[in-house]
Amino acid sequence: MSEKLVIFDTTLRDGEQAPGFSMNVDEKVRLALQMEKLGVDVIEAGFPISSVGDFEAVKKVAESVKEIGVAGLCRANKKDIEDGWEALQSAPRARIHTFIATSDIHMKHKLKKDKEEVLTIAEDSVKFARNLCEDVEFSAEDATRTDLDFLCRVVETVINAGAKTVNIPDTVGYTAPIEFEQIISTIMNKVPNVDKANISVHCHNDLGLAVANSLAAIKAGARQVECTINGIGERAGNASLEEVVMSLYVRKDLFDYVNCTVNTSELYRASRLLTSITGVEVQPNKAIVGKNAFAHEAGIHQDGVLKERTTYEIMTPESVGFPSNKLVLGKHSGRHAFVQRLQDLGFELQSYDLEKAFAKFKELADKKKEVYDEDLETIIENQISEAKE
Ligand code: KIV
Ligand code: ZN
Repeated sequence: MSEKLVIFDTTLRDGEQAPGFSMNVDEKVRLALQMEKLGVDVIEAGFPISSVGDFEAVKKVAESVKEIGVAGLCRANKKDIEDGWEALQSAPRARIHTFIATSDIHMKHKLKKDKEEVLTIAEDSVKFARNLCEDVEFSAEDATRTDLDFLCRVVETVINAGAKTVNIPDTVGYTAPIEFEQIISTIMNKVPNVDKANISVHCHNDLGLAVANSLAAIKAGARQVECTINGIGERAGNASLEEVVMSLYVRKDLFDYVNCTVNTSELYRASRLLTSITGVEVQPNKAIVGKNAFAHEAGIHQDGVLKERTTYEIMTPESVGFPSNKLVLGKHSGRHAFVQRLQDLGFELQSYDLEKAFAKFKELADKKKEVYDEDLETIIENQISEAKE
């Protein structure tokens, strides 16, 4: 029997913390609805106390989604937690996510607190949050640089205080798969009450190891992975959701003990919607969703793929919703192809005015030979912003 793997998407919180990626309330709601279609289990919609706008965004996302979990990040203090809880009121399934740093380096220089003080704050915050909300997640910030015995004490304490999920973040992307697997195994084996909570991981990509570290943690027993679309996030980003999910899907033979219910055919649309909202493209060779992810350029490769696709393709473009036989859009194209391409790019028919958008497209097609995806995204994004003015 395989065990449920919770996919916790933090594109709207950690993802938008990266320079150039901030999103307004409406943009967050549009992306949240796509994430619901994608079938992630929980979305972290923001950090409510950080700004009035973020509070509003978490509130609106909570009101807009139908069934997925919605989390709000809160530091380990009453004010943050109360504020977060207020923002989450309308969520179909609300989760308070509270955190405090546990590594010596953070406790000494940032918090100026010792281990016992941090342990008490963690315990009190989780208890306080549990009085408000059934579903509480605790994160031990900078866990991978935390003394492992102390980390185990923290995990045990917050589980006793009522945390349902305990997250072990690799906050600065410092660990490596071989080490992270041992950290998670130690927690699984040494913490006496570990079976009362779900162990989660949250890996940053400073050494390019975020996805590999997340997979190593799954092997050791983690059953929640925190990740972002296109791998966006602080500094070098977070583990890329599409890479984690497709690794599990393509290598089912290695991960048959976990069950991930993400609808992979919505991955490309989620990626495109994010790029069109933020205006930041992924690199062409980005795994799964980059422009070249399914392109075969070398003669030998083209020949191989024509003879038998699996010679050089380990997954089909369709499996991630990547439009495989892209029709060229130009001045002779009709509404049907136009709408289809917009759907492939993540735009629902009801989110734009078809007649106006189609007229703009024709106007552009008269001026250039081929209209690219980026042109279409600009047409629709402009229309959406004009409608709001
Ligand atoms: O990277 C990190 O440690 C975080 C926590 C708040 C989960 O983003
Ligand atoms: Zn983070």
